[in-house]
Amino acid sequence: MNPTPSAARPFGPQADLLSTTQFDRSSVLALFELADGLRPLGRSELTCDVLQGAVLSSLFFEPSTRTRLSFESAWARLGGTVLTTTGFTFSSMAKGESIHDTARVISGYSDVIVMRHPDKGSVAELADASLVPVVNGGDGAGEHPTQALLDVYTLTRELGARGRTVEGSTVAIIGDLRYGRTVHSLIDLLRLWKGVRFRLYSPSSLELPREFFDRDDAHRLLVCESVQDALKGADAVYATRVQRERITDEKVAQSIEAAVLLDKRMVQEWASDDLIIMHPLPRDSRPGSFDLMPDVDDLPGLAIFHQTDNGLMVRMAIFCTILGLDLPTVLAHTRKPVWNSGKPLARPGLHSAGRQAQDW
Ligand code: CP
Repeated sequence: MNPTPSAARPFGPQADLLSTTQFDRSSVLALFELADGLRPLGRSELTCDVLQGAVLSSLFFEPSTRTRLSFESAWARLGGTVLTTTGFTFSSMAKGESIHDTARVISGYSDVIVMRHPDKGSVAELADASLVPVVNGGDGAGEHPTQALLDVYTLTRELGARGRTVEGSTVAIIGDLRYGRTVHSLIDLLRLWKGVRFRLYSPSSLELPREFFDRDDAHRLLVCESVQDALKGADAVYATRVQRERITDEKVAQSIEAAVLLDKRMVQEWASDDLIIMHPLPRDSRPGSFDLMPDVDDLPGLAIFHQTDNGLMVRMAIFCTILGLDLPTVLAHTRKPVWNSGKPLARPGLHSAGRQAQDW
């Protein structure tokens, strides 16, 4: 296995997308602008056939709801065809086939491959042997770069709606900072914005890996003693689920208290009135899960479903960039659907006053 992405060149046409390190500020902002322009496709106001005849292979060897389905939806909404396999059971990897051979075979059938795999570095290994671009849908405790892109896209929009910017903002990151790959990718991507500060809280067994504190901008990271401390002065909180599937040490697993990570009372008592509440999801809603509680769902700052909605647009923009399609080209291949005139912003009775469907 090659844990260092050999193909980690700047993101652009025909590039793999393996790591947030492939981006600079201008390439992130260009992607966001493209995502904005693709909103009518995400909302079913326009259908598109620009990817007619193009094939995506979607290989998910770990559970996923939103990453797999939003990638597949993004490709389908651009008019392409999706081939999908989930879990090892139904792949020939169960018969011992290597990542190298899998990559070579599947890239013969596809124009782009998206893969999620439990091993850090595995997606880079696939990309090394693939004949077509590969997108990292999450590699073990390594990275989840497309989640970071949709997270920063959402943060930008949420702060903008409140008259603020990402520059100079304070983001509290709480929960599992050790195994939470979305946290690693988010911190890496937000390094591109000046003056962003992170207030970190985790149980001692789930602290952010040491390598983050060895960097020259480690002064941006403040380790806090409690959630209350982390929320001080925060513009946004990014809560994460404990990645129990990656914890092999039973003592570590048992050391995590069956407690609440963040609930409505804590937000109301400890945070600013307009705190933006984010989470990559899934959240573990079972009692004692040490996660974000569902009682925050009627707070005005809740952005967790804006993140999931935005993921569709960001992932469409990723595919368009990889395939060298600019917005005018995509829009030239659209038309109004005969079956729908656009998604309603909210269904009556859905959530509180349709807040979750706000202008996505
Ligand atoms: N955020 C995220 O990666 O969700 P899934 O595991 O459902 O894809």
